[in-house]
Amino acid sequence: MLRSGKKCATSVEVLSHLRRLGKQKMRKTVLVTGGAGYIGSHICKALLAGGFTPVTYDNLCSGNKDAVRWGPFEKGDIRDRVRLKAVINRYNPFAIIHCAALIQVGDSVANPAEFYDNNIYGSLCLLEEARSYGIKHMVFSSTAAVYGQPGSSAPLSEDRPLNPINPYGQTKLAMENMIRDYAGAYGLKFAILRYFNAAGADPEGETGTAYKKDTHLVPLLMQVAAGQRPNIEIFGRDYDTPDGSAIRDYIHVTDLADAHVRALRHTFLTGENLTLNLGTNKGYSVLEVIKAARRITGKTLPALACNRRAGDPAILVANAARAQTLLNWTPQHSSIDEIIATAWNWKQRQLKAGDDDNQTSGKMAA
Ligand SMILES: NC(=O)c1ccc[n+]([C@@H]2O[C@H](COP(=O)([O-])OP(=O)(O)OC[C@H]3O[C@@H](n4cnc5c(N)ncnc54)[C@H](O)[C@@H]3O)[C@@H](O)[C@H]2O)c1
Repeated sequence: MLRSGKKCATSVEVLSHLRRLGKQKMRKTVLVTGGAGYIGSHICKALLAGGFTPVTYDNLCSGNKDAVRWGPFEKGDIRDRVRLKAVINRYNPFAIIHCAALIQVGDSVANPAEFYDNNIYGSLCLLEEARSYGIKHMVFSSTAAVYGQPGSSAPLSEDRPLNPINPYGQTKLAMENMIRDYAGAYGLKFAILRYFNAAGADPEGETGTAYKKDTHLVPLLMQVAAGQRPNIEIFGRDYDTPDGSAIRDYIHVTDLADAHVRALRHTFLTGENLTLNLGTNKGYSVLEVIKAARRITGKTLPALACNRRAGDPAILVANAARAQTLLNWTPQHSSIDEIIATAWNWKQRQLKAGDDDNQTSGKMAA
């Protein structure tokens, strides 16, 4: 049995796992729950480029069918076990990349029941169907929100205490724990990937944010640049940071997608279970991001200073050394300039195509 979580498998363990695999070939089909969403659609593109066939399973509650371009689409809810069975039977996937979730923190505070039902009960249904069909590999979209309010501003490593401060983060931690328990009891192999702030869009302009209601800094800035929103709100100018605004670690969504393909291969080939932060080890302040967006879009982008929001830490930056070492992964697209430039390119394409349905009522997430 290989060690799980933060410890690395020894070379002897890896070799014996490889021997057990024998001539077994890595099958190609991967079920991607939430594949019609922002991050899921980038993952599907990366999977296809990596030689896999991604099958998107999504109920389109926030995703977009047009974002499913790199493999079959099956509409369905992860809580619908009859539908899940039919799709798994049809495609026989060897692995699941589980991105489907409700993700808006504010909504989770207002309506935790919906989040517990969708995210936790939905994941239980998915894990049960995976178990009954003998699907042994899962890559899971987790989040820095599982750390809650870190006590210090130093880059966060995976062994920092887990203490989510909102129902969204609670559901993600519960899902992590369920996956670990299934690994312990039923032999599931997993990679739990904790994303920091996903941002940017496909550099080839083929997919981007799919949110019907966006709350993230970069897409909101793009809405201001496009004249869809009067200003960008800055929550907190009095943090203990060089310019007083909050600092976050922005990771380009294409780099995230690449890490998923690497993590899938790694867990399959080594049998090692992984829990990894995905970030850049470097933070940008809200003011720095706004400045970059002004420079790249050539727009004024008026900003409005607002009070801090409850629960927002001053600094949230990943220590992603473990992912870099174990997956041989280095972010290639995560400079703030490339993040903004690709997001702006995507925004302009949506505007040209006339299919931009961003609302102007969302609140900014730092
Ligand atoms: N965006 C970020 O910065 C970020 C950061 C950390 C973690 N994550 C995680 O990454 C994952 C993807 O997030 P995203 O930003 O792409 O959001 P998204 O809303 O674009 O994608 C989520 C997808 O899941 C689908 N979905 C939700 N509930 C479902 C259900 N019950 N059955 C089937 N499909 C369902 C939605 O329709 C949507 O397509 C989520 O699990 C989220 O928690 C995102």
